[in-house]
Amino acid sequence: MKKLRVGIIGCGRISVMHLVPAQKLEQSQLVACCDIRKELAEETADKYGITPYTDYTEMLEKENLDAVHICLPHYLHVPVAMDAMKRGVHVLSEKPMSIDYASAEAAVKCAEENNVLYGVIFQCRYNNATRLVKNAVASGKLGKIISARSTLTWKRSDDYYNDSDWKGTWDKEGGGVVIDQAIHSIDLVTWIVDSEVESISGSMANRGHKIMIVEDSAEGLITFKNGVRYGYYCMNNYGCDEPIEIRLYCENGKAVFSYDDAYITYNDGTTEEAHQRENTEVYEGGKDYWGFQHILQIEQFYKACLGLEPLEISGKDALRTHKIICEIYDQGGMRK
Ligand SMILES: NC(=O)c1ccc[n+]([C@@H]2O[C@H](COP(=O)([O-])OP(=O)(O)OC[C@H]3O[C@@H](n4cnc5c(N)ncnc54)[C@H](O)[C@@H]3O)[C@@H](O)[C@H]2O)c1
Repeated sequence: MKKLRVGIIGCGRISVMHLVPAQKLEQSQLVACCDIRKELAEETADKYGITPYTDYTEMLEKENLDAVHICLPHYLHVPVAMDAMKRGVHVLSEKPMSIDYASAEAAVKCAEENNVLYGVIFQCRYNNATRLVKNAVASGKLGKIISARSTLTWKRSDDYYNDSDWKGTWDKEGGGVVIDQAIHSIDLVTWIVDSEVESISGSMANRGHKIMIVEDSAEGLITFKNGVRYGYYCMNNYGCDEPIEIRLYCENGKAVFSYDDAYITYNDGTTEEAHQRENTEVYEGGKDYWGFQHILQIEQFYKACLGLEPLEISGKDALRTHKIICEIYDQGGMRK
């Protein structure tokens, strides 16, 4: 089987979740990595036996890559993705697509024009817990969803923002808890509800982080065209990272799930549950709250690049969640 020549752009915290799969999956050959921090690029390259670059355009010119993974600060996702697409290279971008809606749409168009695949990471869709609930809704077993709610109460200390030159800024991160952390739970609900948005009414504030200017708390109500009312609440001022919690109230029962566990109780008294997949490999440097499902989405992306199956989470598909995130900021009134 042909192996895709793969490069990773950005060797920061999340990169391990891309480097390990790119090296171990049978569809790929990890050949290069790039980071503007020379030492980090070299250290990463040494560890994986690949070639380091500090300039991604040089990597694209020299390595004859089939695909790149983008693990960069949010404001760089689209420009770097489009540079790769214009060279005929498939792109798998970390979430969020971008820090605004127009540039994300432009990236989708660019991928189409250049006949390359554009995938966006939403690894939580691959959790066992998510799959159980998604299938129970999509099959009709749970009946129509009436209401949904999600809560995220995590701890992001001042040091977390202090240690980064882009987190906690409007121009580089594009926001705070909504675009970075709550985006996953908002995406899961949006994916399961599977309808266009009717209206969004929300608010946001910075309630506890003097060090930064973006929001650390947000709440609101999203109504979907299929009638579902979805309330979200998120904040980064909690004392620890509690599991996120999503609840669905449906015609035939209720579902409650986090990233790791799902419990469904049907009105007839029967129950179903799912838990984190067994034998999940935990990588050194990985975080529990990221989950360990990146490899499943990356393998799916590679199979799509090889023409073996359609891409599951394309940029076009991810635009639905991205639009909601951008509208939450429009509603919130904090983003200039
Ligand atoms: N899917 C998830 O659950 C999850 C979890 C964490 C982070 N992420 C996402 O991953 C992305 C990266 O986050 P992170 O926490 O790894 O950030 P990070 O700051 O640790 O890493 C970003 C890296 O990009 C490098 N960089 C900056 N500009 C560059 C350029 N022009 N060329 C090459 N390298 C450049 C930086 O030097 C840094 O090493 C973000 O989009 C973030 O939202 C996703």
